[in-house]
Amino acid sequence: MEVLMAVCLLSLWVCFFCFAILKWNEMRHSRKGVPPGTMGWPFFGENAEFLRQGPDFMKNKKARYGPVFKTHILGCPTIISVDPELNRYILLNEGKGLVPGYPQSMLDILGKCNISAVYGTTHKYIRGSLLSLIAPSTIKDQLLSKVDKYMRICLHNLDGETIDIQEQTNDMALFISFKLIVDTESSSVYDAFKAEFSKLLIGSLSLPINFPGTNYHRGFQARKNIIKIMEQIIKKRRASSMNHDDMLDNLVRNVDSKYELSDEEIIDQTITILYSGYETVSTTSMMAIKYLHDHPRALQELRDEHFMIQNGKKPEEPIEWTDYKSMTFTHAVIFETLRLATIVNGVLRKTTKEMKLKGFVIPKEWRIYVYTREINYDPILYPEPLTFNPWRWLDKSLESHRYCFLFGGGSRLCPGKELGIVTISTFLHYFVTRYRWEEIGGEEIHKFPRVEAPKGLHLKVLKY
Ligand code: HEM
Repeated sequence: MEVLMAVCLLSLWVCFFCFAILKWNEMRHSRKGVPPGTMGWPFFGENAEFLRQGPDFMKNKKARYGPVFKTHILGCPTIISVDPELNRYILLNEGKGLVPGYPQSMLDILGKCNISAVYGTTHKYIRGSLLSLIAPSTIKDQLLSKVDKYMRICLHNLDGETIDIQEQTNDMALFISFKLIVDTESSSVYDAFKAEFSKLLIGSLSLPINFPGTNYHRGFQARKNIIKIMEQIIKKRRASSMNHDDMLDNLVRNVDSKYELSDEEIIDQTITILYSGYETVSTTSMMAIKYLHDHPRALQELRDEHFMIQNGKKPEEPIEWTDYKSMTFTHAVIFETLRLATIVNGVLRKTTKEMKLKGFVIPKEWRIYVYTREINYDPILYPEPLTFNPWRWLDKSLESHRYCFLFGGGSRLCPGKELGIVTISTFLHYFVTRYRWEEIGGEEIHKFPRVEAPKGLHLKVLKY
């Protein structure tokens, strides 16, 4: 009996203690006019619920508090906006104090000259330099033929193989970006780079706890090793009079560009290109293959488009700009994949000063999660939103509607949009004209917080 009473008393104390902590944490962040919501536990906030419930976390909160609410996730007090009009306003008004608000680990590991870490005139300069490397005219004249060449290598000899398409598209995305940046290095340099890059990637998405053994620490070490690899290549290039036809040479020799970057800026710029174009391109490619497998009519229409292009060519003739521009249905498949799989759930911003948005007070330095996922499933914009229907994108006006944020918006609109679409289109061209495939295993695909197949997505591939 006494033991029972002691247990009851202890439980009561624990409940009271937890309640007091939660209340204290709420009061600590409560300010007049701040959006409604809850802040969870000190330090941890509502991270666990956010990651566990994913899109349902947003739906439940929206049902309770409306489309703009406060919470505490990813280590800081955060306002989440699922309001399309407010999201548009935030994306279009960086100059009013709504700058990128990506987590510290990402900024530390990608470098202080990384495009997401800078704003104002520095952002304009870094972005201008980046655009000079990957603008549509550069893709047309220089990059497309290389993407074609290396895509053929990536998709060579798969007949009869069982492949993990997730691994295949990851390798493809990294290899091609690396080759566009550094075209001539030996394969051992690429292998060393690839090993470090995967650690950098994991580190950038982990908590910034810098102890040996943590992902953050490993990611930070990987950054140092990548810097060493790049510094050696830059040194070799400077010591040689030979020109190389790649992005690094453009940056180091400042060819045709009014943007002159320091070595540190050059290295951060190359890491940015590799990092930003990696998961977006690889996951979209994987999901396109998945949706095409599940929708034979769409696959047939896509194949027809690509065979039409191929039939007018000799076997080794590369895809040209006019071919790429004629891939209307491919383009629609890519947009529908981006929408339905929601490759990008939203973007992060932070306030540089206290401000009022939609009648709410947003304190200085709070993060804003511009959550754009819901708009992808809006039945007014996209009738039968859960159906894979690439044909809807043949109406070109869909791409330019007010709330189409598949590639972001405003001054941060994805500068790699065209390069990403070119790479995925080229991937689809060679994959569907060379092969047919069957899924084996019926493996699970997670859609939140990122789109991934935790155990891979295995396909049996045969010659077409
Ligand atoms: C399907 C492919 C892609 C998708 C869906 C995508 C999506 C996005 C989105 C949503 C943003 C906005 C981020 C923000 O507002 O904070 C963005 C920005 C960015 N993307 Fe992409 N992206 C893709 C491919 C690429 C590629 C291939 C590159 C490589 C060059 C790239 C480089 C960047 C960079 C550097 C930014 C930051 C721009 C800035 O801060 O000014 N992206 N992308």
